[in-house]
Amino acid sequence: MDFQNIRLELEGAVAVLTIAREKQLNALNLATLREMEQALHSLAAKADAPSDEAPVRALIVTGAGDKAFVAGADVAEMASMSPVQARAFSGLGHAVFGMLEALQIPTIAAVNGYALGGGCELALACDLIYASQKAKFGQPEVNLGVIPGFGGTQRLTRLLGRQRAKELCFTGDTVDAAHSKEIGLALDVLPPDRLMEHCREVAFRIASKGPLAVSQAKRVIEWGADADLRSASEMERQAFALLFGTDDQKEGMRAFLEKRPARFAGR
Ligand code: CAA
Repeated sequence: MDFQNIRLELEGAVAVLTIAREKQLNALNLATLREMEQALHSLAAKADAPSDEAPVRALIVTGAGDKAFVAGADVAEMASMSPVQARAFSGLGHAVFGMLEALQIPTIAAVNGYALGGGCELALACDLIYASQKAKFGQPEVNLGVIPGFGGTQRLTRLLGRQRAKELCFTGDTVDAAHSKEIGLALDVLPPDRLMEHCREVAFRIASKGPLAVSQAKRVIEWGADADLRSASEMERQAFALLFGTDDQKEGMRAFLEKRPARFAGR
């Protein structure tokens, strides 16, 4: 696919999506969001492909260059928007980040620098967030007279709790990498030159597991988090039972009993 603002590369079972508007610190404009939408469509199909068609098993999202992951939605483009245009822009951001969150494969944000506004929200839409020592997170929209528009108020609250989400959204403060780990925003902090290597290691380790099981785990954790405990526990029970109908479960348990590594086919 021919993209101007992003890159989508396949490294075997792992895909890497790079937001690539380095001069604008990878700010998300309409064109970039539309390309991300296309890329995520094609990834969803590849994640669903039968195992003999080289399916994708994990996705890493990062930013081009060594300064920014994504410095937010594009302020130059937003400045003159009417409320109707702003609603559509926010709707597109929500749709794209929703697609990212709904991918059946695990997604990893490799936060290599500024993750501000829409950039922080992009990381929050991923399953796992790893940060470079140079990473800086924040929701600085109040500095611009607005609020987060790509899901930040909601995903931050679900990840960090109301009080921390309010602190970030009210003050617009920037959180450095060490603090992002302390508050549970980033899972781990890596030296800049180790960040992608670490994310690849995690992605390939996940890719070697039973893909149907990984995808059910993702689904049950995500959907369960928004449900009451009884319904969520029932979701887990159903997903657990469903996996006993797969070749992967037979292979995984047989391999354990035969004391050999399992070869999962995703069936
Ligand atoms: N939108 C558009 N352009 C941006 C941008 C953004 N979010 N962030 C940076 N840029 C551009 C700058 O305008 C500048 O362009 P020029 O060279 O043409 O002047 C270029 O990227 C480099 O940026 P700086 O010169 O500002 O670099 P710096 O090192 O001095 O500062 C920074 C870096 C602290 C990240 C600063 O650029 C900054 O504060 N950026 C804006 C961050 C922000 O407010 N993000 C939230 C946007 S609102 C949002 O995201 C709403 C939502 O939820 C949907």
